[in-house]
Amino acid sequence: MKDGHELVFRPAGRRDFSEVRLLPEDRREAFWVFPAHNYPIQVSELARNMKSRRDVTVAEYAGAVVGFANLYHVAQGRSCFVGNLSVSSRLRRRGVARRLLGAMAGKARSGYGVQDIHVSCFSDNLKGLLFYQQLGFEPYGMQPQMDWDLEPALLIHLRRGVRALELMGQI
Ligand SMILES: CC(C)(COP(=O)(O)OP(=O)(O)OC[C@H]1O[C@@H](n2cnc3c(N)ncnc32)[C@H](O)[C@@H]1OP(=O)(O)O)[C@@H](O)C(=O)NCCC(=O)NCCS
Repeated sequence: MKDGHELVFRPAGRRDFSEVRLLPEDRREAFWVFPAHNYPIQVSELARNMKSRRDVTVAEYAGAVVGFANLYHVAQGRSCFVGNLSVSSRLRRRGVARRLLGAMAGKARSGYGVQDIHVSCFSDNLKGLLFYQQLGFEPYGMQPQMDWDLEPALLIHLRRGVRALELMGQI
């Protein structure tokens, strides 16, 4: 970052969730990031759902929470998913998500011996898909869902080798 502040990744605490819930900039983004929740996203619901996630992490910049991610479906020695990846709209296109995903890949490899990182992204989330494509993710599956308005939605599953992501996060 060019303005003298450092981007820091640290474990999320309950007090962070009031900022985390506001990272998606509108209702559609909130669905992409927290599809299992209700809208508006509630701190108590976030705190409850994060109990089943591992390495729940915030990116902090200049004293504010600017990014969020965690791990789930961890298969020791094989793979895991990175979930709820989101970055504050005022800090996008500055490499925060790339570096946060790199940090999550590092935790997955050193903590659980994971070789592949998986993500799921809704088909109408072009920004998300372009982000994952840029980082070298490959699609391998699709899963029909319903959105919050009970309209059809399609979840695309993608994966990428853990080491490559870790290295890209350090650039
Ligand atoms: C998707 C998201 C996490 C990307 O965060 P970010 O910090 O802006 O991403 P980065 O700056 O690390 O982007 C890395 C690269 O991805 C690609 N990329 C990221 N956002 C993009 C966009 N809006 N349009 C096109 N390409 C994009 C670019 O190639 C970018 O590199 P560049 O800026 O040097 O061209 C962020 O837009 C977001 O939080 N969106 C809403 C929530 C969401 O969709 N999360 C993903 C759930 S599946």
